[in-house]
Amino acid sequence: MIQKITRHAFTIITIAIVCILISANGLSNSNKIKVDSLSDRYKDLFHLGAAINQDIIFGKDVQSLNIVTSEFNSITPENSLKWLYLQPSPNKFNFIAADKYVALGIKNNMNIVGHALVWHNQLADFMKNTSSSAAFTNHVKNHIHTVVSRYKGKIDAWDVVNEAFKEDGSLRPSVFKKQMGENYIEDVFKLAETADPDADLIYNDYNLYKPAKRAGVLKMVKKLQDNGIKINAIGVQAHWRLKSPSLNEIEQMILDISAAGVDLMFTELDITVLPNPWELVGAEVTQNFSKFEGDPKMDPYPNGLPKEIEIQLAKRYKDIFKLFMKHQDKISRVTFWGVIDQYSWLNDWPIKGRTNYPLLFNREYQPKLAYKTLANLIEN
Ligand code: G3I
Repeated sequence: MIQKITRHAFTIITIAIVCILISANGLSNSNKIKVDSLSDRYKDLFHLGAAINQDIIFGKDVQSLNIVTSEFNSITPENSLKWLYLQPSPNKFNFIAADKYVALGIKNNMNIVGHALVWHNQLADFMKNTSSSAAFTNHVKNHIHTVVSRYKGKIDAWDVVNEAFKEDGSLRPSVFKKQMGENYIEDVFKLAETADPDADLIYNDYNLYKPAKRAGVLKMVKKLQDNGIKINAIGVQAHWRLKSPSLNEIEQMILDISAAGVDLMFTELDITVLPNPWELVGAEVTQNFSKFEGDPKMDPYPNGLPKEIEIQLAKRYKDIFKLFMKHQDKISRVTFWGVIDQYSWLNDWPIKGRTNYPLLFNREYQPKLAYKTLANLIEN
């Protein structure tokens, strides 16, 4: 009898153990359900991209590289394809970083952006010192032809001209305007199209939520269109703040740009959380505010982002993305200007050496609340 009871108890215990093992296995399997990356979640709406720095391109910052290849489906080179680095002296090109960048995009089947062909900043010194207009124009022709042809069929979209307008909507008196004349934007778009007829051609700028500047840019778009010159998109740099621009201003901008018959790309999205006492807006990198360096009032979160600001940042991103989703038929790409907070340009602009938190990944390479909020906006 006792033997029978013992056998029974043994059988029951064995069954219980097996059940526990099966359910534990089931649980761990359910834990392994693949969670979609951010770009997978948004793939039916628009490309989701990140600007990548040289350390990511060369695989030195492996953790950021892993984030880029798993979370994003579009890349933009933060600096590596700018004139200064590609052609530092006349006809002496350096394609080492650019080739690596393009190879990375191809390997990971990403949308590859070229940034930027014509910009008054990060331009080689010899261009600033070229006195003859004919020689200057020849350098521009050579640069665009050489660079765009090299990556023909590989780079999907080019920022052909960057930041050519002033806040009042008039043409910036840049060295390009001075040397090549009022119609230089048309001329360089033609050059880019000739070098790669299939690439998307973008005009890229900041503060386009401001009506006067936007009007100037859209007048230029119309002129190109009227003259049969290809321009595919306006790239809206979105170096924004927690409170401004307003959602109404952003929405009006989306509507106006779309009505002009061009695609809209948010090419440089980040949100500063730091004080901006001069009502300074935009992204004009030459402004210098060194007198504020080291001022603790200007750098209030050196040891971490307070929870309430992290929540504000997440809400701001959520509100902006809800608007993007509403107008997804007009928007083909949204690119963050960087990967983790540590390496954002906004730690050094407009005041050097601050601790900013503008992106979706923190200094420990972990997704922030803003990331999770954007992921949750779209079902897995
Ligand atoms: O290459 C030098 C390096 O040799 C030197 O050791 C190092 C020391 O500081 O500086 C390096 O140059 C820096 C360069 O980035 C590359 O890292 C420059 O000082 C720095 O000013 C430059 O900043 C870039 C800025 O453009 C220049 O205008 C930022 O990283 C980049 O994020 C920013 O990107 C621009 C877009 O292209 C256009 N729209 C605005 C956006 C933000 O300003």
